[in-house]
Amino acid sequence: MPRLLVVHHTPSPTLQAVLEAVREGAALVEEVELVVRPALSAGAADLLAADGVLLGTPANIGYMSGALKHFFDTVYYPCLDATVGLPYGVYVHGGDDTSGALSSIQRITGALRWKQVAAPLSLTGPPGPADLAACRELAATVAATLIG
Ligand SMILES: Cc1cc2nc3c(=O)[nH]c(=O)nc-3n(C[C@H](O)[C@H](O)[C@H](O)COP(=O)(O)O)c2cc1C
Repeated sequence: MPRLLVVHHTPSPTLQAVLEAVREGAALVEEVELVVRPALSAGAADLLAADGVLLGTPANIGYMSGALKHFFDTVYYPCLDATVGLPYGVYVHGGDDTSGALSSIQRITGALRWKQVAAPLSLTGPPGPADLAACRELAATVAATLIG
């Protein structure tokens, strides 16, 4: 069964609500196993065992969270050759401007040569029903690309 790995930093109730919506969306694709790991505890073994990855982070000082950066620092060289073409998606939540966080992630995933399979999801402020629906759709879209 293909495995979707969610690597997330979830430091607030807002991001917890986002993560729960992501879980719900991924669960819609029953043919895909979901593995959810906090970014500070995820490592190369998790990534090498995954068929796709969904990254989630708050925007922090115009960048991805230190936790997600730590994940990339940990996995970059161990996974550089083995994960070329890995399907991925990303969500970022911020107060008002997620652009620096998103571009920092895209620089690293570009260097890793991962394949973005869904539009990046940028959320600001308290997430409403449409935002949470977008989280579910993102997770379901990334999961669905792993089938077949
Ligand atoms: C140190 C720090 C830096 C932050 N930097 C940004 C930023 O650059 N852009 C942004 O949109 N939000 C920024 N935020 C807001 C966080 O992204 C936001 O708190 C997080 O997504 C959780 O949302 P919540 O506080 O509504 O629960 C920052 C928050 C902190 C604590």
